[in-house]
Amino acid sequence: MTERARSETANFSRYDYDAELRLYHEVLRRACDVRRDDHVVDIGCGTGQTTRDAARAAQAGSALGVDTSAPAIGRARRLAGAQGLRNVGFAHADAQAYRFARARFTVAISRFGTMFFADPVAAFGNIGRALRPAGRLVMMVWQARERNEWDVAIRRSLGGSGGPAAVAGEGPDPFSLADPPTVSGILTAAGFVGVTFTDVQEPVHYGPDWPPG
Ligand SMILES: C[S@@+](CC[C@H](N)C(=O)[O-])C[C@H]1O[C@@H](n2cnc3c(N)ncnc32)[C@H](O)[C@@H]1O
Repeated sequence: MTERARSETANFSRYDYDAELRLYHEVLRRACDVRRDDHVVDIGCGTGQTTRDAARAAQAGSALGVDTSAPAIGRARRLAGAQGLRNVGFAHADAQAYRFARARFTVAISRFGTMFFADPVAAFGNIGRALRPAGRLVMMVWQARERNEWDVAIRRSLGGSGGPAAVAGEGPDPFSLADPPTVSGILTAAGFVGVTFTDVQEPVHYGPDWPPG
C-alpha cells in the first residue's frame, strides 16, 4: 500500500457518523432533556450513541435502543458493555411492528432514525402506545433536500452544475419527514398531540480536508 493510500485508509477509518453529527447531537440531547427517572426508547438507534447518553442521564431509569440493522445493534451492545452501562438494552427489530411493552416509556427519542417507515402512521402509533400518557417523542429529522448542503453539494459534484436529480422512489428517503404540515398530520393521525417544530441549522462534519491545508 502506498503512503497516500495508507493515509487515506487511516482517514476513512477515522470517519464516523457520531463525529459527523456532533453539533446536531448536542441540540438533540438538550431537547430530549432526559431526567434521572426516565425510561427512554431510542428509535432507529444505530450504534447507540444517543441510547448510551440517555442511559447515563436516566440513572434511576433505563434506555432501550431499537434498530433493524443487526451489525449496528451488535456494535451498540459492545460499546454499551465496554462503557459499563447496566441500565441499557438493545433490540434488533422494526420499530413499526415491535411489540413494545404498553406504556413502558416516558420518552421516545430518535436521531435521524424515523424517516424510513413503510407505514409512518402505523409506526408512530406503535411508538405512541409504548409511551405513558404524558410521554414525549423528541425526534430529529432532516429538512428538505435543497436545504441540506451535504446532499446538494455531493449531487452537484457528481453530476455537474444541476447535479443528478433525486429520483422519487429511489429507496429509503431521509427527507420523508421534512414537511412540517405532513409530519403534523402523520403524528396527529397516530394519536400524538401538541406537535411542535424547532428549526436547527448546523454543519455536518465529514472529516478534515484532503490534502491537509
Ligand atoms: C441515519 S441512521 C441513524 C442511526 C442513529 N440514530 C444515529 O444517529 O447514529 C437511521 C437508522 O434507522 C434504522 N431504521 C430504519 N428503519 C427502521 C425501522 N423501521 N425500525 C428501526 N430502525 C430502523 C436504520 O437501520 C439506521 O440504523
